[in-house]
Amino acid sequence: MLRFLTAGDSHGPALVGILEGLPAHLPLDWDKINTVLKRRQGGYGRGKRMQMETDQLEILSGLWKGETTGMPLALKIVNRGEKKQETVRPRTVPRPGHADLSGAWKYDWAHDLNPIIERSSARETAMRVAIGAICKQFLAAFGIQVVGFLRALGGVEIPPKTTDLSKLEALIQKSDFYSTNPDFEGQLRELVDQTRKKGDSLGGIVEVITSPLPPGLGSAAHFDRKLDARLALHLMSIPSAKAVAVGDGIEGAGWSGSQFHDPIRIENGKIVRNANHAGGVEGGMTNGQPLRVQVFLKPIPTLLKPMATIDLTDGSSLKAPYIRSDIVIVPAGSVVAEALAAYVLAEAFLEKFGGDTMEDVRFAFKSYKKRLKFI
Ligand SMILES: Cc1cc2nc3c(=O)[nH]c(=O)nc-3n(C[C@H](O)[C@H](O)[C@H](O)COP(=O)(O)O)c2cc1C
Repeated sequence: MLRFLTAGDSHGPALVGILEGLPAHLPLDWDKINTVLKRRQGGYGRGKRMQMETDQLEILSGLWKGETTGMPLALKIVNRGEKKQETVRPRTVPRPGHADLSGAWKYDWAHDLNPIIERSSARETAMRVAIGAICKQFLAAFGIQVVGFLRALGGVEIPPKTTDLSKLEALIQKSDFYSTNPDFEGQLRELVDQTRKKGDSLGGIVEVITSPLPPGLGSAAHFDRKLDARLALHLMSIPSAKAVAVGDGIEGAGWSGSQFHDPIRIENGKIVRNANHAGGVEGGMTNGQPLRVQVFLKPIPTLLKPMATIDLTDGSSLKAPYIRSDIVIVPAGSVVAEALAAYVLAEAFLEKFGGDTMEDVRFAFKSYKKRLKFI
């Protein structure tokens, strides 16, 4: 069973994580993980803090000479922007749209919102991205590629330029918006610059697609083992995510059944589907097609032109405080979504083919593939 836990505050000394359940003898490329962490900090429209932090993943245990040992990985990312608690003044004015008010009530921190702000900040996603980047390397050992990218920003739809995953990855690497279509860069830059001038923020859509997945990841046996449900749990947990769609789930709700479902036929002895409206999951299990999921992110709550709120000490009306913030985080959201999808897929893969060593997993995967027909 693959599982993880994270802890750590936005301005505390470090973020920490434990990832348990990876088989022994998976070589990990640390530079690749740190590159993904850097991408999470980037994307056009980010704030000053992102320029200050250069995240580096440290390993405390679970790795021996570059390979997993089969024991838990203990992980750490130092916060470059650490603030000593004694120097932080209490905050009592909640920002609409953030966790401030709900957290103040729930944990009794109305007299100082800082503890809530510290943990609900999306800084927490850095450790989950590191864990997802490790899972991506596990999946790559079985030929599975996972790619996240920007699909829409502030209402501007950016259709992918190609369906070839390696070409998509190359385009994303070059884009300031992690988009797959360079024709849109100018328009998006203009949009973000205008939004910044207005003191506002923008939301958007990110998409994750994979290479064709082995059929049968996930389960039809029980609700909490369904792959689409598990993807939705993790992807909805991205700070600012407000909806998740598998395949054409959102538009498809308005189509007829004959339009939505992907016919099954045989070509050269193999099953072929004419389309992938299902997004690669049917009945809670992968169906041999690529996975395709979208996450819908709201505009972030901290605004340079702040909204109305109150002071929790006396109920007086005032404007929300501006805490150093991003304008647009949707490109970074695609990095987070990619990492979380990779985690869920690695978890489901290990459930099906799990073993203590990479060799055990390879053996189970190979014998499963042998018994499948028409693939
Ligand atoms: C990568 C990333 C960076 C974010 N940065 C900010 C930020 O600088 N300021 C802000 O107000 N919200 C930011 N958010 C969004 C908030 O963390 C989020 O809206 C808040 O935690 C409340 O959660 P909810 O929107 O899911 O309800 C960011 C989200 C992500 C994914």
